[in-house]
Amino acid sequence: MSAMTPDQLTEQVLTAYAGTPDPRLRQLLTSLIRHLHAFAVETRLTREEWLAGVEFLTATGQRCDSERQEFILLSDVLGFSSLVEEINAAQGATESTVLGPFYVPGAPVRAMGDRIGRPDDGSPTLVRGQVTNPAGEPLDGATLDVWQSSGNGLYDIQDPQQPPFNLRGVFVTGPDGAYEFRAIRPVSYPIPADGPVGGLLRSAGRHNWRAAHIHAIVSAPGHRPVTTHIFDAENTYLDSDTVFGVKDSLIRPFRPSGPGDPPDVSYVAEMDFVLAPAPETG
Ligand code: BEZ
Ligand code: FE
Repeated sequence: MSAMTPDQLTEQVLTAYAGTPDPRLRQLLTSLIRHLHAFAVETRLTREEWLAGVEFLTATGQRCDSERQEFILLSDVLGFSSLVEEINAAQGATESTVLGPFYVPGAPVRAMGDRIGRPDDGSPTLVRGQVTNPAGEPLDGATLDVWQSSGNGLYDIQDPQQPPFNLRGVFVTGPDGAYEFRAIRPVSYPIPADGPVGGLLRSAGRHNWRAAHIHAIVSAPGHRPVTTHIFDAENTYLDSDTVFGVKDSLIRPFRPSGPGDPPDVSYVAEMDFVLAPAPETG
């Protein structure tokens, strides 16, 4: 009997999984097996490299706890999270980008125009705009759940000096779909590099900085929610964001405030959000 070829082995494994009853799981499993086998064949993966990969993934899992999700961070720095966002994007809506590990549900609902942080968090900035559907009609009762790091580059949950829910807030639009809140001009910050993902970035000669941004999850009844960012047009990391989150359509000028602007802010950023109708269910 002649030796089995890699192709024959791959076919044998695929056949073993061909009876997976759930059709979607069957598709995911068999595609994964095909790509995984092709990767090993293409690279002529050695046993030592296979073991190093197993050890890396083990360390990644061991770095996860209730506060830290190193696997999502791995997905982020490989551009995989961004790819999944891209594939699932709604047509005609504001582009989405990565959620990141620093979202905390349950931020306080604040009055329109309120400040989400403390006076000394950074340069006071007014963020404003409108939430509409793709036809440009304002969305009443749209919710903006926004969060950002302080001027020291840390989110409240990373920094014992910040009170809970600092630089976080939920704003609900009225019939005109308009919103505004007082934030700080966002700063670049490094993503955690003290785990396996940091090691990977160093091995690849990549930096671990995120382009300066404010996060927002925008939702409205009957519409598909969008998880996105507002990026500062003047930031140095727009072209090399460590998690591949930047999209041109999400970049906005943070312009110095002028005579027509509220006197308590130094910068103004304007960002409209468009939500697509939710698919019909039932
Ligand atoms: C963030 O923007 O909060 C973030 C996103 C991905 C990885 C790390 C941080
Ligand atoms: Fe962030």
